[in-house]
Amino acid sequence: MGILDGKGAAVTGAGRGIGRGHCLHLAEQGASVVVNDIELAEAQKVVDEISAKGGKAVANDSDVSTREGAQALVGQCVDAFGGIHALVNNAGNVRDRSFLKMSDDEFDAVVQVHVYGTFRCAQEAAFRMRDQGTGGAIINTVSAAHFGNFGQTNYAGSKGAIASMTYTWALELARYGVRVNAISPTGTTRMSATAKIGGKVVDLPFVDPTRNGAFVAFLCSDHAKWVSGQIFGSGGERVVILEQPKYGTGMYRDGGWGVDELIEHFEQHMKKELEPIGLMKNPYPFYDGVEPPAS
Ligand SMILES: NC(=O)c1ccc[n+]([C@@H]2O[C@H](COP(=O)([O-])OP(=O)(O)OC[C@H]3O[C@@H](n4cnc5c(N)ncnc54)[C@H](O)[C@@H]3O)[C@@H](O)[C@H]2O)c1
Repeated sequence: MGILDGKGAAVTGAGRGIGRGHCLHLAEQGASVVVNDIELAEAQKVVDEISAKGGKAVANDSDVSTREGAQALVGQCVDAFGGIHALVNNAGNVRDRSFLKMSDDEFDAVVQVHVYGTFRCAQEAAFRMRDQGTGGAIINTVSAAHFGNFGQTNYAGSKGAIASMTYTWALELARYGVRVNAISPTGTTRMSATAKIGGKVVDLPFVDPTRNGAFVAFLCSDHAKWVSGQIFGSGGERVVILEQPKYGTGMYRDGGWGVDELIEHFEQHMKKELEPIGLMKNPYPFYDGVEPPAS
């Protein structure tokens, strides 16, 4: 007996890395899984691995960034397994370049897979979950890069968009019994091998990428039927709530703020409150001023 017996699930970008781990855990918990990857041979390897352990899986090579790909993915899950009860939007790519050097093509390639892929697959799955009358679970994938990360305008921006879409869909889809959450995973993968922090390549210790999968399986199950609109750091040793942006310390004045009053009060009240920026959440770095280079 697994916590996902009788459920149909689809995982995008699951031929390797973190998505593969999600599939293994979903299948172990009894779900029948569509293993998607644009590289079909990799997806098939994961299917074979699941089948060898007695689980049920089929491979799918849709490009999830397209509407046709998203429809084919959800359609295959419904045809093969009688419905879709869980979708994990995991597929991802990177094209790192500092902001002033980034081309339209580099920006677009990443937005297409992350933002459009997540939007289109989630919408196709949600149509079906609504029409089935069963509801379901959608799990999106963000990254701490969305706090800001040097060289990742396209990726950080896409992950921020996915976080905001997650909150919005949780509000909109609850009426159909569809829960929407996201994970900010961690794991040593092909993608993490390119990771830079503060613009520098970092040699991170090995973290088993399959360690995110148990939490994803839990989130997809009825044990988490009261969890929606949340983002969790997952992987390694952790399950941690990612706090949502919210209005913080403020200054209030009858009639609002003019420039003269801002000059008088802003530094005194707000300077010590400025937020750290960037993935590492280092202390606020610009107290000495942001100046052009000396000529
Ligand atoms: N590895 C980490 O530490 C880490 C950290 C934060 C977030 N993430 C996120 O986790 C997810 C998985 O990343 P990973 O590290 O396993 O990367 P990975 O490169 O190992 O796997 C990503 C997979 O997505 C597939 N893919 C890419 N474009 C596709 C498309 N259009 N359609 C279908 N499949 C496509 C690739 O072929 C690849 O197999 C990504 O969304 C990534 O942004 C990873």
